[in-house]
Amino acid sequence: MRLENKVAIITGSARGMGRVFARRFAEEGAKLTVCDVLDCSPVAEEIEAIGGEVLALKTDVTSEKDTAEMAQKTADRFGRIDILVNNAAIIGSIENKDFKKPVEELTAADWDRILAVNVKGVFLCSKAVIPYMKKQGGGKILNIASTVAFSGLPHFLHYSASKGSVVTMTRGLATALGEFNINVNAVAPGLIMTEAMQATYSQEFFQQLVENGQLIHKSVQPGDVASAVVFLASDEADKITGQTLAVNAGEYLH
Ligand SMILES: NC(=O)c1ccc[n+]([C@@H]2O[C@H](COP(=O)([O-])OP(=O)(O)OC[C@H]3O[C@@H](n4cnc5c(N)ncnc54)[C@H](O)[C@@H]3O)[C@@H](O)[C@H]2O)c1
Repeated sequence: MRLENKVAIITGSARGMGRVFARRFAEEGAKLTVCDVLDCSPVAEEIEAIGGEVLALKTDVTSEKDTAEMAQKTADRFGRIDILVNNAAIIGSIENKDFKKPVEELTAADWDRILAVNVKGVFLCSKAVIPYMKKQGGGKILNIASTVAFSGLPHFLHYSASKGSVVTMTRGLATALGEFNINVNAVAPGLIMTEAMQATYSQEFFQQLVENGQLIHKSVQPGDVASAVVFLASDEADKITGQTLAVNAGEYLH
């Protein structure tokens, strides 16, 4: 087991990729805090059913009070915090099906909403766990970026900008925290048909991307991303920091 006895927090883990990461972390032996603005009790029950130790919290990553409590309650329950996975984000399609609009129709409110969760949320969650990691002599922070950080999709300008910031913050945090043995890396998934993306893209669009937009013509699954996250969270990645690993079957390398 690659994460045996590690204590991990995974944000945005009520559904989608976060939920898959949570299950995989439990299978790899980690003790877990799952947290989200949505109810995390179903994922907690799933983890308990396979014998995992789990704490489920309601946490809004844009709230400094919530993120401080997330760290405090994890340390109170498990005694330490080894890993933070900054996964919570808004892709936008679930709450706003009119998301794919021209840049000039993006509102300041759209911009602020995405940036608050996807950028400030990463900052606040990282800020909350850093004192615990420093005190215990190390830790790992994993940020979930996106391939759009490199491509800058026009209809996703605010989302692309937020994920570009995640890549930049990964480097900045890695630089700030290296001397404390805190590794900071990012994983940049390609398009994956989670609930959020099913609400945005048709199956036909997805199939076309797999066949024409990727070097490897197989759909990328949440489990593929989980494998990269587990690796970077494990002791095997102790000498890797400040990096962004794309898990996108070679998308945008055409
Ligand atoms: N699915 C894709 O194609 C894809 C591609 C690249 C990157 N990503 C990234 O992967 C991660 C997971 O994406 P997903 O497809 O599973 O999406 P998702 O919408 O299913 O999952 C995101 C989770 O974050 C939670 N969340 C939203 N706002 C929050 C807040 N303020 N506080 C706490 N939790 C909050 C949501 O409730 C949800 O459970 C995200 O960072 C996303 O940007 C996804």
